[in-house]
Amino acid sequence: MAELTINGRRRLTGELSVQGAKNSALPLLAATFCVPAKCLLQNVPALSDVSATLAILRHLGCTARRNGETVAVDATSPVRYTIPESLMRELRSSIFLLGPLLARFGRAEIFAPGGCDIGARPIDLHLAAMERMGAVIRKADDKITMRVPHGLHGAEINLRFPSVGATENILMAAACARGTTHLHGAAREPEIVDLAEFLNRCGAKIRGAGESLVVIEGVRRLHGCSYRVMPDRIIAGSCLSAAAVTGGEILLRGVDHAHLAPILPAFRRMGCRITAVNDALHLRAPRRLTPFSTLVTAPYPGFPTDSQAAFLAMACTASGVSRIEETIFESRFRQAREFSKMGAHIVLRGRRAEIYGVPRLHGARVEAMDLRGGAALAVAALCAEGQTTITRAELIARGWEDITGTLRRIGAQTNG
Ligand code: UD1
Repeated sequence: MAELTINGRRRLTGELSVQGAKNSALPLLAATFCVPAKCLLQNVPALSDVSATLAILRHLGCTARRNGETVAVDATSPVRYTIPESLMRELRSSIFLLGPLLARFGRAEIFAPGGCDIGARPIDLHLAAMERMGAVIRKADDKITMRVPHGLHGAEINLRFPSVGATENILMAAACARGTTHLHGAAREPEIVDLAEFLNRCGAKIRGAGESLVVIEGVRRLHGCSYRVMPDRIIAGSCLSAAAVTGGEILLRGVDHAHLAPILPAFRRMGCRITAVNDALHLRAPRRLTPFSTLVTAPYPGFPTDSQAAFLAMACTASGVSRIEETIFESRFRQAREFSKMGAHIVLRGRRAEIYGVPRLHGARVEAMDLRGGAALAVAALCAEGQTTITRAELIARGWEDITGTLRRIGAQTNG
């Protein structure tokens, strides 16, 4: 999907089910490499990033097959510990294989990972943690060679920032290491809990996932299991935003209410009425949204950086001024320029954005800069007068499974 076209100003109503979480499926797929047996993952979204991860697993010598929403990975006899630069550059999450490679082979040869360009995305925390667990690292240009001469061992690790990816790599490596790891300052995102539950289901001994201190007792060998990927809390937010920006009404099925706690108050501040019904959420939006004053992104349980762009999109036509402060990725406001092409009034000051709501946006030809920013352009397009064409829409497909079909199901006019 190179382009996504949306004809706006249709009130969206209806029911949707939330896809499995990309940010959980990717580390879970990597974690299957720690397991010398077959694992079944259910509710795996059909995304280009998932296909890229399966390609890496196959390159390493695993069998990896998709059958509908289920992916079977058998990492009984992997044959390689090197990932070529072209595969590493496909996605940021290729770095998740680092811990599993060291766990299985005691060696890894990788390159700096790719992924969405949303700011500097160093991997120093990942590498430093592996060093603490016994790895010796050599870097030559972009190539990183790692060995664990005496096998991975448990360690005391303090993260200076609760990096989601570093926490996940540490969990996977430590689950198979000799001895116990105390991880202080861990990320607390629900995807971390999902990964720990999967590993524990495979026989790992991880306590405290979802808290700042995680204790991982290494085990000799993991065994296979069947596991269902958690629902995608970011796409849930995007679906709610799509309905809200059009003054619509939606019943969203298959959500985990607790995971959405950081974003629901902001929807309410914008005038939406939200009620929880079993595993579903009902949202009814006012004709025009009210501004949300200030949102500051922060690690979980703070407001997610991945949902920031969708709120920026909604703020464009709210009845006043909204402010967003981005504290995680410095380049996330690169998308703002494209909203301006649709008539939005956004003032940027470094990591702060002031959004002056206008009564109406108009359609335009705009470019997706990254996955979440591109999805947010789609949200804005839904309430814009006339037609919007989003180019580089393949970036959206990295995280949102069949955005065209999803939006059509609740009454949008889209093509892509
Ligand atoms: C994950 C999510 C991404 C989300 C982000 C923050 C996945 C696949 N992706 O990305 O959607 O936006 O969490 O919630 O789960 N940092 C360092 N050194 C490191 C690692 C990170 O300085 O070694 C910094 C980053 O530059 C950034 C911050 O830590 O400023 C957060 O990054 P991190 O939590 O690691 O994000 P990802 O795991 O890449």
